[in-house]
Amino acid sequence: MIPVIQKNAENVVCVMVKTPQSNQSLDSVRQQKLEAGLVPFKLVKYFSFSSLVVILVFTLFLSWIISNNAREVMMEQNEEYSLLLAENLNQQVFRRFVLPAVVRYGGIKLSNPDQFELLNGIILGVIQGLKIDSVTIYDSSMNIISYSTAPDLIGKKDMGEEEYIKALGGVSNSRLAYSGNVFSLLHLAEDVKSELKTFIPFRQVRQDGEEGNLIMGVIEIEKNLSRSYANIIRLQGRIILVSSVVMGILFLVLRTIVSRAGEIMEKRAMERLRLEEKLNQSERLAHLGTMVATVSHEIKSPLGIVRSTAEILAKRIEKLAPGNEHLAKIIVDETIRLNSIVVEFLDFARPQKLSLRRINLNLIVKKVLLFITPELKKRRIELVTDLAPGLKDSRLDEERFYRALLNIVINALQAIGEGGQVQVSTSNLKGGGTRIAIRDSGSGIPEEKVDQIFKPFFTDKNRGTGLGLAITKNIVDSHGAEISVDSEVDNGTTFVINIPPAK
Ligand SMILES: Nc1ncnc2c1ncn2[C@@H]1O[C@H](COP(=O)(O)OP(=O)(O)OP(=O)(O)O)[C@@H](O)[C@H]1O
Ligand SMILES: [Mg+2]
Repeated sequence: MIPVIQKNAENVVCVMVKTPQSNQSLDSVRQQKLEAGLVPFKLVKYFSFSSLVVILVFTLFLSWIISNNAREVMMEQNEEYSLLLAENLNQQVFRRFVLPAVVRYGGIKLSNPDQFELLNGIILGVIQGLKIDSVTIYDSSMNIISYSTAPDLIGKKDMGEEEYIKALGGVSNSRLAYSGNVFSLLHLAEDVKSELKTFIPFRQVRQDGEEGNLIMGVIEIEKNLSRSYANIIRLQGRIILVSSVVMGILFLVLRTIVSRAGEIMEKRAMERLRLEEKLNQSERLAHLGTMVATVSHEIKSPLGIVRSTAEILAKRIEKLAPGNEHLAKIIVDETIRLNSIVVEFLDFARPQKLSLRRINLNLIVKKVLLFITPELKKRRIELVTDLAPGLKDSRLDEERFYRALLNIVINALQAIGEGGQVQVSTSNLKGGGTRIAIRDSGSGIPEEKVDQIFKPFFTDKNRGTGLGLAITKNIVDSHGAEISVDSEVDNGTTFVINIPPAK
């Protein structure tokens, strides 16, 4: 803010303030400082977001590992079961079918319906109630199905794959075929299906009951595991759902904390910035005050001499050149006005000690209104008062508070010009303390100027010093009170002062 001393058309010294450009750069510097203050916090914010993503990925991975493990356990258990069953089948078929068939028919020939029925009866009897889908027996010399509980398969060639070859080599093994995944739960992928095929060598049984080395074929036991597999997929779905919900809640809580912390930090950064600016401004004002006080003091004495000389001159002119007294009167009037400006400058520049005492605010308001009434009448301005009858006392410096209110009221009259309304009301505040509101129906203050009006030397009047509201604010602040303004262009302005309770 740079105060510029100018002379206007009437050769009157006035002080104006150049603001727009300096304000713009001030705002950007302010924004930069604020951003710089918030950088470490922003890093924390990004860190929290990225850690959430990592946790989510990790949870998905974990759910996959758990369900994979469950699938392996399911396969192992069922394979064990199939192996036991196959061993039993091996024994039963060899003892109750192979040996009797060789004795009775001289060899095994499943094309013989009697032999087939015998074998079929034995196998169906063994697997009855065991939740086995099918039992198939492959020939050992050719890859051909000799027997199956599924009649369509009998006689089919080359159906045994590498598992069949392995089993022929004496090694039992299994194949788990499955289809479907978690998306099957939402019917977005194919249905969940799973079947376990276990291939076991069909061995000759010795007389002592032990299995011999001769491999006569391969037994394939097929078990449908779709239900168990569907349970595993459901478990996987549940893990993903639960962890997503937990993650979601965690994310929301974290976001709330982060945004709350952000608000607090931004508030603190703003507060720090405000204090810094205030400190800078008070330093600048202190220098300015000293300068203004010195200059004003130097002007005051010669001004007194000019005024008294002009008064003497007026008397002499009256005798020597009657009719020209008004010339000397102009000098006197202007020195009076200049003097009041100088007094205002001094008032602003010199820190004054308050002499506080308990007093009713209504008394000071009435004094101000009494003083201003003739001017109100002259300008045909209506005065509406609403002074609270039971207004509590406040601790105020009567003279200085009178001055503060007068400055506001004078501004109100100037903003109205002629014919309008001024409303003055007082009231008790809820939490103790008192309030005064001064409203005028004047020109109002443009939004971009509202922030400036309390700054010293800000004025848009030809004959204004721009110190009226700065002095008022100084006085209000020194009482621990607060002043605020609410204005709308062409609709008027309201100044409100909240005064703390008297202790
Ligand atoms: N009630 C009001 N309505 C409209 N504008 C106002 C009002 N009060 C203050 N202002 C604006 O705020 C500016 C600063 O007011 P302030 O009282 O500090 O200085 P001033 O009135 O211009 O000069 P002076 O030092 O003579 O009081 C005014 O120039 C005016 O633009
Ligand atoms: Mg003023």
